Amino acid sequence: MTQFDFDSPTTEWLKARGTARWHDVADGVIPLWVAEMDFPVAPPVQAAIQDIVTKQAYGYPRDNGLKEAWAEWAKNHQGLDVDPSKVTILPDVLTGVRLALRTFSPAGSPVVLPTPAYMPFWDVPGLVGRRIVAVPMVTGADGRSTLDLDGIGKAFAQGARSIILCNPYNPLGRVFNETELRGLAEVAEEYGAFVVADEIHGPLVPAGGPAQGRTVPYASVSDAAAAHSINLMSASKSWNLAGLLTAVGTLFTDENQRLWKKEVHELETEGASTVGMAANLAAFTSGQPWLDEANEYIHANAVWLHDELARELPRAHFTVPEATYLGWIDFRDCGLPANAGTWLLRNARIRLNDGPTFGPGGEGHARINLATPRYLLVEAVGRMADAINKR
Ligand SMILES: Cc1ncc(COP(=O)(O)O)c(C=O)c1O
Repeated sequence: MTQFDFDSPTTEWLKARGTARWHDVADGVIPLWVAEMDFPVAPPVQAAIQDIVTKQAYGYPRDNGLKEAWAEWAKNHQGLDVDPSKVTILPDVLTGVRLALRTFSPAGSPVVLPTPAYMPFWDVPGLVGRRIVAVPMVTGADGRSTLDLDGIGKAFAQGARSIILCNPYNPLGRVFNETELRGLAEVAEEYGAFVVADEIHGPLVPAGGPAQGRTVPYASVSDAAAAHSINLMSASKSWNLAGLLTAVGTLFTDENQRLWKKEVHELETEGASTVGMAANLAAFTSGQPWLDEANEYIHANAVWLHDELARELPRAHFTVPEATYLGWIDFRDCGLPANAGTWLLRNARIRLNDGPTFGPGGEGHARINLATPRYLLVEAVGRMADAINKR
């Protein structure tokens, strides 16, 4: 039995939110792009935010137990051991990526980026004077995309000393398994490279989906992996709180924690908000029942999309993601241009993320946001099929 309502949000209600996804959307266009959910917020999270408003607690934030709550959630849901004294509260995950690259890789050393990649990953290394070595994902023996460990090893051999690992993977929806992550840990260890593990999509693994609700945090695969990595997490994707600005960065050794404290000024990690910290705390302590249902709703959307495309648009290829609410559609056999998303905005009045903005491997693809009421998805996919089939 379902307890929460994901079906009912109207386009008027969504537009009134005024945040990125529905901002500046031309009349009639269905926005299925940026990673915001179209659902009402989890009730305990909303209550925590309302409590802040009631108390007018708008001063500077102080310790509210978030580090301990994250540690408890990580243990219970991911089997990850987190020591709250090695957690830093951050305004957002990308700040963590930037500061970790600067702190834990030698100045000027290149950064490995598996591609296609979440767009801001293309820009963040440059902010700390690091060049990117793109290493495209490859198709594994089981037909799924996987990390190119040989390519990553080559990049390390040529001087790269860090990698941005998106686990689970935006945009390909992969949940890396222990074997894949151990493989990466071995290569990183061989070359003394640091792994920046962005695990923001980690809570978004449906129990009823291919990964059966389980994601493997990178730091959990071995002591070596823990010692050469940072885990970056926030409730912001899973509970739809991105504008409230709060994330957590977790280190796993005293040595890394000492280096971080030495190299990163407190002012550089400031910016988490009182309301964001309260909302993240509520998400980690009481938000799971809502998220479990949201994950299943999203997974059902993905299965529906898969079946509908097979029926109505068989030349489009789509694999049901193991995690995240982001789907990756391959339109190359449909004869669309490289920027398929732009073509669909013009011709089908649906807004997806254009594949090429994710870098090499994105041509002819588009990313679709599946955290949306089913009726909007049905309308959007109907338009997509009509536009492509009549071209
Ligand atoms: C992989 C990944 N990392 C980071 C972010 C952004 O996180 P933040 O707003 O905390 O920087 C996103 C947002 O979509 C994401 O998909």
